[in-house]
Amino acid sequence: MMQKILAIETSCDETAAAVLSCNLSPNPSPHQQRGTNKKLPEIKILSAVVKSQIKIHSKMGGVVPEAAARAHIRYIRPVVESALKIAKLKIENLDYIAPTQGPGLIVSLAVGVEFAKALSLATKKPLIPINHMLGHLYSPFSTSLSRKTGEGLREGVFPSIALIVSGGHTMLVLMKDLHNYKVIGETVDDAAGECFDKVAKMFKLPYPGGPEVSKLAEKGDPKAINFPRPMLTHKNYNFSFSGLKTAVLYHLQSLPTKRYPLNATSDICASFQEAVVDVLTQKTLRAAKEFGAKSISLSGGVAANRALRQRLEIMSKNNGLKFFPAPLHLTGDNAEMIGIAAAVKLAGGFKPISYKKLSADSNLQI
Ligand code: KG4
Ligand code: ZN
Repeated sequence: MMQKILAIETSCDETAAAVLSCNLSPNPSPHQQRGTNKKLPEIKILSAVVKSQIKIHSKMGGVVPEAAARAHIRYIRPVVESALKIAKLKIENLDYIAPTQGPGLIVSLAVGVEFAKALSLATKKPLIPINHMLGHLYSPFSTSLSRKTGEGLREGVFPSIALIVSGGHTMLVLMKDLHNYKVIGETVDDAAGECFDKVAKMFKLPYPGGPEVSKLAEKGDPKAINFPRPMLTHKNYNFSFSGLKTAVLYHLQSLPTKRYPLNATSDICASFQEAVVDVLTQKTLRAAKEFGAKSISLSGGVAANRALRQRLEIMSKNNGLKFFPAPLHLTGDNAEMIGIAAAVKLAGGFKPISYKKLSADSNLQI
């Protein structure tokens, strides 16, 4: 049965909407009949629209919640209308509305959630609230889910270790399959993306700093400075990045001049990036070994980082693991991944809810 989902994402500074159609009961493949990955939706992305607020926030050097909320209010209706138009559908043709419920900035989340609730009230379409982190978790599997009966997601994938690295989170998740997952490690302070952004600020680079730092890092020597690898040898799967950020700051303060030549800046960025990549990839690999994983996935804004993608790909290959990086267009925040999560939730038996039962939750856990 084909179902149409309108997904809405407003957790931080992107206003996004997407329309998906999904077949919740595709013909079971022989593997599925044997009981592997029983419930996989077959999805098709009909439209995906993202209105970024980078221009607004880069002037301020970071996301200003008040400004983000105001921009969401301005953009949400045109973004949703344009997603429907591209999908050649009217609101009446939809079956479900799936907004991001959390985690994120409460004033941003509230715009998407309240807009979805109003649509739901007016059209009687039920809601599927989505945890933003689930969107990131499933984004590496989007291509597989777009194929018939989730081809490519049947054998040699699960258990899988997911590394989710964004501006707000750094997480390792053990996935038994698409429906059964558990967070096994998190950052105890700054997220990896946040650390990139803060280092960028030290060099007065524009927000968001991650892409800027990684561009400079490409030209530098990753071995120039031996920055600390926080918690690398700790026996758990947690991360800590605030000490690394401070180490970069102390290094800068120790230099005789405040006007860093480009090659010195590139070396610092490359050495910093190397420390982040080292910790992230080595802990991910250790988790994969301990939990007997068959694959590793990578998602979130920082998953766009080339050094990180390459290192994890090589490590996976050398250890006989499949590697699923999120496609580049799904690394940053988007509504497509929220729609994919809604389809997976439905396929797993989730019962959509009434608008009366939903409110945004900035600390929502997975
Ligand atoms: O997932 P995302 O778009 O938003 C959150 O949910 O937080 O992640 C944004 C984060 C920012 O911190 C940004 O600097 C970082 O991802 N980022 C990068 C790169 N591209 C984006 N960090 C390092 N290297 C990149 N190429
Ligand atoms: Zn995100």
